Amino acid sequence: MKILPYQPDQSGLAYSVGTTLDRFIKLKQSDFPFASGELSQLLRDIALAAKIVNRETTRAGLSNIGGAFGQVNVQGEEQQKLDVIANIRFMRALSKGGEVCAIVSEEEDSVIDLQNSSGKYVVAIDPLDGSSNIDVNISIGTIFSIYRRKTPAGSPIQREDIMQAGTEQVAAGYVLYGSSTMLVYTTGCGVNGFTYEQSLGEFFLSHPNIQAPKNGEIYSVNEGSQKEWEEGMKAYVDQCKDRRYSARYIGSLVADFHRNLLKGGIYLYPATHKNPSGKLRLLYEANALALIAEQAGAMATDGCNRILEIQPTTLHQRTPLLIGSSEMVQEAEAFMNCPAEKPTS
Ligand code: F6P
Repeated sequence: MKILPYQPDQSGLAYSVGTTLDRFIKLKQSDFPFASGELSQLLRDIALAAKIVNRETTRAGLSNIGGAFGQVNVQGEEQQKLDVIANIRFMRALSKGGEVCAIVSEEEDSVIDLQNSSGKYVVAIDPLDGSSNIDVNISIGTIFSIYRRKTPAGSPIQREDIMQAGTEQVAAGYVLYGSSTMLVYTTGCGVNGFTYEQSLGEFFLSHPNIQAPKNGEIYSVNEGSQKEWEEGMKAYVDQCKDRRYSARYIGSLVADFHRNLLKGGIYLYPATHKNPSGKLRLLYEANALALIAEQAGAMATDGCNRILEIQPTTLHQRTPLLIGSSEMVQEAEAFMNCPAEKPTS
């Protein structure tokens, strides 16, 4: 009997499919300071729910799950059926996993206590972002932030477990249901992107160690609200036009953010006269993307403050958001009218 050492195939006949998300999470587990496998399992739970939501979104037109659900969420926005479905899917995955004790969701008025006080993690999630785009077949996303609870496992959930600044995130990510479905996440050691291979039912590493360009020529903003903006914001966008930058605005935060992250650009959802705190939510939209941005070398600010350092005071708190290529964000910030810093005594 002959025994031969394995020789990787050189024929090029069967292309390599690469590293699965599962394998990658396992390989990276030791990068995480509290590596006990629970965060890894939590990321897998999220990936599983994302696959299910991907299935639902891709067949929405055929299965009578498009359109409005007939209720308004705590934001005063009309819930779409798929908003509700995605919320159920993620809630179910996170509650079954056992690693999570509480969830903050865009679709829920209050914090959801999973009655699993031994769970170490708190998740803030926008299960389906950009849902007004569902019925017209345009990219939508899921955004999530993961925090370690502050109080000891085994005790009841407290306000301090939930109201944590973005700097406390142990992981964050998004899923983009677009021309292909991607999951992009960070555990604070760089950003990696995985593309879903539908026929195999797996996410594969396709965008290792994403680095955002420092500068770009794309600006993404809803210019229909221009009359409502502060003067500084108007002047910055005028400058973008003077420089002949491209305007690209999908109206799905995840999709606009993802494009600018890869190609270089800035996404702006500013304060307006009517909504001085902007529109986007700090806990389950801005924070996650801000962590990813910073980990990829980009930046996120509310115009005057680093997003990750804002201390939340309410669950569904809104924030203006300027996010993207670092030089563009710095330049935009210089146009904003920020309160003078208090002199230190
Ligand atoms: O989460 C809110 C959201 O749908 C984002 O995905 C998107 O970028 C933004 O609102 C669009 O808002 P508007 O329609 O005001 O431009």
